[in-house]
Amino acid sequence: MSDKVDIIEKKVYETYFPVVGRSKPVRSVSLMIKLLRDKFKLIVPERIVAITISAFLSSRPVLYEGPPGTGKTEVGYAILSLWSGKNAFILPCSENYDEYRVIGDFHPLMAMKMGFTEESFIPRPLLAALILDTGVLVDEIRRSSEEFQNMLLDIVDKRRIVVPELKRIFKAKGDGFQVIFTSNPEDIAQNELSDAFLRRVVRVKFTYPDEDVEKEILKIRLGENYWKLSGENIAKMIASVNELRERATHKPGPADTVAWAQIAVELANLREKEKVTAEEMYDAGFSVLLKRIEDEDIVEDVLTKYFGGKR
Ligand SMILES: Nc1ncnc2c1ncn2[C@@H]1O[C@H](COP(=O)(O)OP(=O)(O)OP(=O)(O)O)[C@@H](O)[C@H]1O
Ligand SMILES: [Mg+2]
Repeated sequence: MSDKVDIIEKKVYETYFPVVGRSKPVRSVSLMIKLLRDKFKLIVPERIVAITISAFLSSRPVLYEGPPGTGKTEVGYAILSLWSGKNAFILPCSENYDEYRVIGDFHPLMAMKMGFTEESFIPRPLLAALILDTGVLVDEIRRSSEEFQNMLLDIVDKRRIVVPELKRIFKAKGDGFQVIFTSNPEDIAQNELSDAFLRRVVRVKFTYPDEDVEKEILKIRLGENYWKLSGENIAKMIASVNELRERATHKPGPADTVAWAQIAVELANLREKEKVTAEEMYDAGFSVLLKRIEDEDIVEDVLTKYFGGKR
């Protein structure tokens, strides 16, 4: 096979190589933290980076668990990409996800004409990641079936993908092929993860950031716009989201805090104000933080407490 062009590899390179990019793989925790901040605008605790890298070094899959908006998806994608030096693939899970969608399937017309051959095979992201030696972020793993989860674990464990129709086994070529799963354990609408699954993964817990870190997140995400918010408003915002995390059904994550600040700044700009006032904080807050109708009174109460009367 070595001196012959591999049709599947050729297809993968043609389809996916232009989008994966290339940079030097990162192996140090401190450099990873710096690049997460500089390149991806993510403030990530040392604990999360160090555990993830340790898992990769022993080729174990990682499970990021935590409430919505705490950065699981973005952090997972960024760490995988820095680790392998190539942009990671994201597989957003759903009930009906199966091996044909992630490993590959056959072009129906071509398969009818020439059978299940390499020519009629269409490689999909998981196989592409293995061939290109880059990472895979399996997002919201609880939304997939147990069968799908077991299939993924088998691939990650053995670091190879079998395509029976082609009578082929594709093996990982380096250590860039790593997998991070994300999950929100508080979402009751989703499937439980099996014991077999939980035994194999390294679990990393995501939590709400401390006040100082959340302020840093706002600063890095808003850029110049950060200075349109007064120190007082920022402190009140952070107090508000922390109170809602205690009291509301939908608990705002840093993703919501950032969205709230961005909308407030845009509102102030549209109203031709130099600085964001309590009015924009209130209006933007109400629109961004209220996700469930049963939280309406609580959101209103918290915003009124920090940003004045009802509008
Ligand atoms: N540590 C962080 N550093 C910088 N921004 C962050 C961080 N955590 C959250 N954010 C903000 O949240 C957004 C990313 O949230 P992300 O979608 O990755 O969270 P998630 O945990 O995957 O949420 P969900 O459970 O809803 O999928 C970023 O775009 C940013 O605005
Ligand atoms: Mg996510």
